Amino acid sequence: MSSIQIIVGSMLGGTEYVAEACEETLKELDHHVDIHLKPDLQNVINNTFPTNNEQNNSDNLTKNPLWIVCTSTHGAGDYPDNIKQFVSDLSNCDQDLSTVSFLTIGIGDSSYDTFCKAAMDLSKLLISMGCNELTPIKTFDMSEDIDPEDLAQQWISTNIDLL
Ligand SMILES: Cc1cc2nc3c(=O)[nH]c(=O)nc-3n(C[C@H](O)[C@H](O)[C@H](O)COP(=O)(O)O)c2cc1C
Repeated sequence: MSSIQIIVGSMLGGTEYVAEACEETLKELDHHVDIHLKPDLQNVINNTFPTNNEQNNSDNLTKNPLWIVCTSTHGAGDYPDNIKQFVSDLSNCDQDLSTVSFLTIGIGDSSYDTFCKAAMDLSKLLISMGCNELTPIKTFDMSEDIDPEDLAQQWISTNIDLL
């Protein structure tokens, strides 16, 4: 079982559905999952690195922590409002995050030149902080992908084995 933090960036709610679909799949696979619809870096870090007492009282989390970033892009390649503070705090964070592995799901629309730029930028930021990207970013194009929730569930099921 792994401890997984799903970090969601969404303006209009569509990406929340994709993230919740991933949460459902991971729980079915018996992982411990926290979903952050209004991500706060300190909360995410506290859940990622529980104190010894908390860890003893919680499930036996046998593997390294995993963050799943699931964000849309708005404006002209901008982050959704709800995740801007998280990104700003992350870029100023001096905690060692090198034991954190992560996966990124980007939701966007290929009619924009800045297709899924927010997800790509956040993925690069995590790499620059020393986090381990398990597999390259997965993007979904809302102008083509009919059922991104289902596609995301399939992708997560395949890639969770990389942990
Ligand atoms: C005002 C506006 C700006 C957008 N800008 C981008 C963009 O720069 N790049 C991109 O890939 N998608 C862009 N999109 C598409 C959204 O990312 C897409 O509609 C997504 O599904 C919205 O997800 P949400 O419901 O979680 O906010 C934009 C959408 C709107 C309404």
